[in-house]
Amino acid sequence: MQLDPAVLSEKEQYKLMTGCIIPRPIALVTTLGPLGPNAAPFSLFNMAGSAPPIVMFSVGDQGDGSVKDTIQNLRHLPEFVLHICDEAIAERMNVCATNFPTGVNELDEAGFTALRSVKVRPPRIAEAPVQMEGRVLQIVDAGERHHVVLGEIVWFHFRDGIVNDRYHVDIARLNPIGRLSGSNYARIREVFQMERKFLGKKPKQVA
Ligand SMILES: Cc1cc2nc3c(=O)[nH]c(=O)nc-3n(C[C@H](O)[C@H](O)[C@H](O)COP(=O)(O)O)c2cc1C
Repeated sequence: MQLDPAVLSEKEQYKLMTGCIIPRPIALVTTLGPLGPNAAPFSLFNMAGSAPPIVMFSVGDQGDGSVKDTIQNLRHLPEFVLHICDEAIAERMNVCATNFPTGVNELDEAGFTALRSVKVRPPRIAEAPVQMEGRVLQIVDAGERHHVVLGEIVWFHFRDGIVNDRYHVDIARLNPIGRLSGSNYARIREVFQMERKFLGKKPKQVA
C-alpha cells in the first residue's frame, strides 16, 4: 500500500501518523499567561538535544483556527514546566486537555497541587514524577497550523527514588504512559536489551 499525503485530508494524515508513530511520551506543560497558570498535555513531544538538555513539543491551532493558550502564554512569557505523565496522573492529565475557555486554571480543574518553581515563573505540578523547568529557545511554525516549541531545560525535579546515583532512571518507578492513536494509551511493562556495536573506540557521548 502506498499513499500520497497530498490527496488525503488532514484527519486522514493525522490518523496515519498517530497510528504508527507510537508510543508517544506525554508532556504535561504548565505556562503562565496574563490570566494565570495553564496546563495542557502534548504527545507530539520528545527530547531534542542534550548539550544543553533540549525538548520539543508541537502545538496545533484549535479547530476554529485560534491559537491554543499554551502558545499564547509562551509568546507572553517564554517559560514553562514540562512534566512527564505517569499512570497515577493520567486521568488528571486528561482533564487538562479539555478545551476550557482561556483563563480557566486547569490545575485547579484537575485537582493538581501547584508548587513554586525554582528558575521559572510558571508553577510546577507536585503530583508529577518528573518536572522539568524550561525556557523557550524558539517557536518554529510548521505547516499550516502547528507551532513547534524548542525549549532548554534549566532545572530538573525528580521524585525521590526514581534516579540512582549514576543518573539512571528507574522505568518501573517512573511508570510513564505513552499515547497511541485516539483514546488508546500504553504502559511500559516489558523491556528487552540489545547492545549497540561501535567500530573502533566507543565514543564518550552516545546518541
Ligand atoms: C494525551 C494527549 C496528547 C495531546 N497531544 C497534543 C499535541 O501534541 N499537540 C496539540 O496541539 N494538542 C494535543 N492534545 C490536545 C491538547 O492538550 C488540548 O487541545 C488542550 O486543550 C490545549 O490546551 P491549551 O489551549 O490550554 O493550550 C493532546 C491531548 C491529549 C489528551
